[in-house]
Amino acid sequence: MTSRPSLLAALSKQADRDINIASLFETEADRLDRFVMREGPIRADFSKQALDKNALEALLKLAAKCDLEEWRAKLFSGERVNTSEDRAVLHMALRGVGGTQENQADVAQMRAHMADYANAIRADGKFKNIVHIGIGGSDLGPRLVADAFEAAADQSLTLRFAENVDGASVNDAIKGLNPADTLAVVVSKSFGTQETKMNGESVRDWLGEHGGTNMIAVTANRERAINFGIAAENIFDFWDWVGGRYSVWSAVGLSLQIAYGPDVFAEFLDGAKAMDMHFRDQPLQENLPVMLALTGIWNRNGLGYGSQAVIPYSRRLRKFSAFLQQLEMESNGKSATRQGEATTLTCPVIWGDEGTNGQHAFFQWLHQGPSAGRYGGAPVDFVAVLKDHENRPAHHAALLANCFAQSEALMLGKDEATVREENADRDDIDALAPQKTFPGNRPSTTITLDELSANALGHLIALYEHKTFVQGVIWDVNSFDQWGVELGKVLATKILEEMSKDIAGNHDPSTTALMKLVQN
Ligand code: F6P
Repeated sequence: MTSRPSLLAALSKQADRDINIASLFETEADRLDRFVMREGPIRADFSKQALDKNALEALLKLAAKCDLEEWRAKLFSGERVNTSEDRAVLHMALRGVGGTQENQADVAQMRAHMADYANAIRADGKFKNIVHIGIGGSDLGPRLVADAFEAAADQSLTLRFAENVDGASVNDAIKGLNPADTLAVVVSKSFGTQETKMNGESVRDWLGEHGGTNMIAVTANRERAINFGIAAENIFDFWDWVGGRYSVWSAVGLSLQIAYGPDVFAEFLDGAKAMDMHFRDQPLQENLPVMLALTGIWNRNGLGYGSQAVIPYSRRLRKFSAFLQQLEMESNGKSATRQGEATTLTCPVIWGDEGTNGQHAFFQWLHQGPSAGRYGGAPVDFVAVLKDHENRPAHHAALLANCFAQSEALMLGKDEATVREENADRDDIDALAPQKTFPGNRPSTTITLDELSANALGHLIALYEHKTFVQGVIWDVNSFDQWGVELGKVLATKILEEMSKDIAGNHDPSTTALMKLVQN
């Protein structure tokens, strides 16, 4: 097989020409048909990307050369595609797709156990508050979903989160709550994470006499949870074939089930399942996650963009870009291939904030800022919800108008001649015109959800999960390990111990000086 660097270099050559996005609508009569795709409540419009029919063909050929279909089959069959940790990757099995019969039986049992437990807690009424303790994949997914579900919640249970080791995180989570009617759910795949263990200990202290009964755990390491002091019957299991950042569908979502009910959670899983089946069964050229991934590859490897913005025009999806930062950057932010060869053109920086807030912050840069990318700024994924439930139609109309306007403005820009015409009376026009000109031709995708249902959210998250997998295949990296987070964790443990014992240790001069700031 041709080497990956040469395939990606060929793509960059193919992109080395000027493409005018707006004029593609004239030259490609079927552009909207070709570049708009739908799966259930999700519609994705890729037509404002700076890629034409030829580019798309090149991308599909690249996917074939990278054996994408074979990798997809391996993933769903439960092959150990996480090679560096020798594990299968089967978060789809949590939604009822793929895996062995044994996996499916384990999942069915786990789902029944979670639903029974959640129903019992909801019916009992003893608990008024849930404090979910976890970080990274044990936090970001549940937190994103909690925000989204909150609109439809019956408000009988409050759900709070404690993730950071900063004492403020625990303090804010328990503020004003009564230990007697608070259930703490400690969530950690490894049950070895410093932040989660420390937060768990602090919350257990706060629970006082209720510590034994009001704390449960979710983990893939039952033994450690027992050693931590959680009673065996209060532990919900998941498995090593569920990666942390892909785990919201497992018992990691227990707090969500308790707070919002098992039915809502089941809809969420069903939405993801529909996207799984779409990804598994649709040909590459009609496959939404594949298209999302390939446009990203075009922007990264063809056009040279180093970052990708994701802007949800929805307050309730405000955590989406933070969630994707872990999903995509922890999965594909790597510089070594599966074979250990050096590679540089992998995951871009993923960033963003909710719209319209971002418009009053970094959109200036998106519209007029420079970047290494061929057309400047950064590609944007706009995410919008068509029908909302906030009972403020005027607000919703304004929100959507802003979203649609931004993608149009990024694409069309405003040329210098127009600026000169509009400002003909200014005697500093030569200086002013370039400053008020918008270059345009900046690529974006707009993804709409018919409404922010649990089902649609399941679709959306699974869409990006599969996108991440596809990009990992093309970049030839293992998307399911995260060795890059280890070094800092080890050093933090060492430094904490040295600082507590007032030892200087063996560090560089800058770190030593920093440690001295907090040592006596
Ligand atoms: O940040 C590294 C990481 O291992 C993530 O991959 C994971 O989601 C997070 O820490 C939390 O891990 P755990 O669920 O084991 O506490």
